[in-house]
Amino acid sequence: MFDGKRRMGILFAALILASVASGCANGPSRDPSAKELASTKYDPHALDVFHVALAPGADESERTFSWHTRDTNKKGLVELSRLDEEGNVLSSETFEATVEDILRGRSRHKATVSGLEENQLYSYRFGDGLSAWSESYTFRTQAEGEFNILFFGDPQIGAGDGVWSDADGWNRTVTAATEMFPDTAFLVSSGDQVNRANELSQYDGWFFPEELTAYPVMTIAGIHDESPFTDYFNAPNETGLGEDSEGSDFYFTYGNTLFIALNSQSSDIAEHKEAMELAIAENPDATHRIVFLHKSLYSSASHALDEDVLALRVGLVPVFDELDIDAVLMGHDHVYVRTYQMKGDEVIGEIAYNEEGAAVDPDGTVYLTGNSASGSKYYDMQDASVYERYAAVALQLEEPTYMNIKVTDDSITFTTYKTSDLSVVDAYRIVKTDLGD
Ligand SMILES: [Fe+2]
Repeated sequence: MFDGKRRMGILFAALILASVASGCANGPSRDPSAKELASTKYDPHALDVFHVALAPGADESERTFSWHTRDTNKKGLVELSRLDEEGNVLSSETFEATVEDILRGRSRHKATVSGLEENQLYSYRFGDGLSAWSESYTFRTQAEGEFNILFFGDPQIGAGDGVWSDADGWNRTVTAATEMFPDTAFLVSSGDQVNRANELSQYDGWFFPEELTAYPVMTIAGIHDESPFTDYFNAPNETGLGEDSEGSDFYFTYGNTLFIALNSQSSDIAEHKEAMELAIAENPDATHRIVFLHKSLYSSASHALDEDVLALRVGLVPVFDELDIDAVLMGHDHVYVRTYQMKGDEVIGEIAYNEEGAAVDPDGTVYLTGNSASGSKYYDMQDASVYERYAAVALQLEEPTYMNIKVTDDSITFTTYKTSDLSVVDAYRIVKTDLGD
């Protein structure tokens, strides 16, 4: 079983060794052992890659990759291999990557792999087009049909007591969530991956959970991500609408659900609407429609009354109403909030519930805001008069949480858990019985 503390210890030990090897002026001095020399010797067949971002592609048969290499502008390749259950390679295919030089002597590589089969074990590794390859990583695709995803609020590594304590909190939550739901289709990080986008160590912290090389992660653009966001991540179906330096609105499908990610750094409502209409026109048969955006439109803490947030609420809520969006998942306010079913900025009065407590064919949209998954920062609650109009649940627990979203042919269930003891914070289910045509 993965042991974050042990890995952290190894990481720190490695950092200490690295500082010794690099001749740290005040560090202890001794001759390195032969084993240490061997481990640091240049190996022309080893490719050093870092910040490996595996993400959902345009649909469940695709995945995207983004990764960095040092001091090179060589070709970028991904080798994808189908494995049997014993890990033997059944077949391999190579996909070309784009290559761009970025600051600080690094190259950025992006690629998309396609043709993935359901319920299949794969390995992948990165190449330079010559003879060097990275280590191999593995992931498993899920079976077709119902699926679940895991949603994480602002990890914002570096906003708390330090990069590595924030990374440890993030790691604990990702590990707890994926151990509870190992058959997860993909993860979502709802924006503010890091606190200062130009501090490489903060991204080292975000990428620290080793599960992130095995589960695709859809990252949403936050405020703190800024322009480096596009250096680190590779979104499918970028529309060029709602665009700023962090990228633009994009969409993808998984199973029966259309997911639309809006860049809430852009206040251009007309473009957001156009992007959503495009996504829906391309996927008219999706049973469910879920939107991700960073800035919570209905929250209860420090950002609840911000001018930019309220302007987005005024602009986007009528669009979500018109386009029959089932749920909107957000971050930004580092607090947990679930609204009542909302339409026209009003609470829907009449909701039918089945014997299990699920809302049956509810009108309108439910808005959910995730609290910080790392615990790096929590915002104070506003007076209840600010949010009691729309919030069915509003909680500042001041501890990390995550949300599991289970999607079936006719239902979506949102269940939020505490990382600390895996207890349920809140659960809400929508059931659709009117899918006849
Ligand atoms: Fe944040």
